[in-house]
Amino acid sequence: MHILVIGGAGYIGSHVVKALLKRNMEVTVLDNLSTGTKLNLFPQANFIEGDILNYDQILTALKQNVDGIVLLAGKKAVGESMENPMKYALNNINGVINVLNAMVEANVKKAIFSSSAAVYGMPQYLPLDEEHPVNPMSFYGFTKLETERFLKWYDQLKGIKFVSLRYFNAVGYDEAGDVKGLEENPQNLLPIVMEAAIGKREKLKIFGNDYPTRDGTCIRDYIHVTDLGSAHALALEYLDNGGESQILNLGTSIGSSVLEMVNKTEEIIGKKIPYEFAPRRAGDPAELTAKADKAKEVLGWEATHSDLENIISSTWNMYKNL
Ligand code: UFG
Repeated sequence: MHILVIGGAGYIGSHVVKALLKRNMEVTVLDNLSTGTKLNLFPQANFIEGDILNYDQILTALKQNVDGIVLLAGKKAVGESMENPMKYALNNINGVINVLNAMVEANVKKAIFSSSAAVYGMPQYLPLDEEHPVNPMSFYGFTKLETERFLKWYDQLKGIKFVSLRYFNAVGYDEAGDVKGLEENPQNLLPIVMEAAIGKREKLKIFGNDYPTRDGTCIRDYIHVTDLGSAHALALEYLDNGGESQILNLGTSIGSSVLEMVNKTEEIIGKKIPYEFAPRRAGDPAELTAKADKAKEVLGWEATHSDLENIISSTWNMYKNL
């Protein structure tokens, strides 16, 4: 199978490319290098510098005998999406429509799409299964939900089969060190913990210690990007075998609190993390955990790299020599 990975030079994209290559797929990466980097490209994959907003570039890439796509390109900062919804509408909605329209024209019928736990909004029960009502609390989450709805219509009307993968908290780095690019200006907890550990940042601010959780800090379901990568490979094989369209959670169902992440990091790296408690961040639910049984049933997928030890040490390997 020849797969076009759109956004394949990014943090998650590069781990997806590695997983597809490992399963002997032919890979072409299309990326505009806005947040992705050439450091993340694999020599075995072809590379096209291009943008999801450029219809002709997408169409030309799809016409190179592509069998299916993985669409990761897009904007992903929840806070920024509330301040600049236009940027998110353009990239995450117009961009997806461009890709879908080009797929129709090029007769490419298989798509794996990056979605997010952000589609659910405030949990009504835990762990979240795919039947949980969707009510995004951010514009980012709204764009992900809307694109899932576009996918359903393009399936019904044009026969594009899709697997939409709702990631929980993506963390970790390739254990073999094959992904070399570090995310710039990281907004997420673990990279910020690492920056505090190496003194790149004065301290970590823990947003809230008065949540109704075991230690008062928020609980999240951290999933290693290598596990996300294998899910994409399995999803492509599933569609190639004639599978119907699916929406699947990707998580571990194990929740870890912010303080547990900090304590475990200190234990693994043998350094203290300077931190202080700060007010709650608007829109943060106390707890988010996934029920990922459906991904196991449909794809035979299981998280095998997502123990905290592995998540933290693979991330530390990227930061310790900065
Ligand atoms: N946190 C801190 N201090 C920081 C950064 C984060 O205490 O400096 C806390 C947050 O309050 C939260 C936890 O660490 O409780 C994890 O925060 P992240 O920002 O790393 O991740 P989120 O859970 O907020 O968001 C993630 C993805 C989003 C996705 C969302 C789905 O990054 O893309 O899950 O709910 F939309």
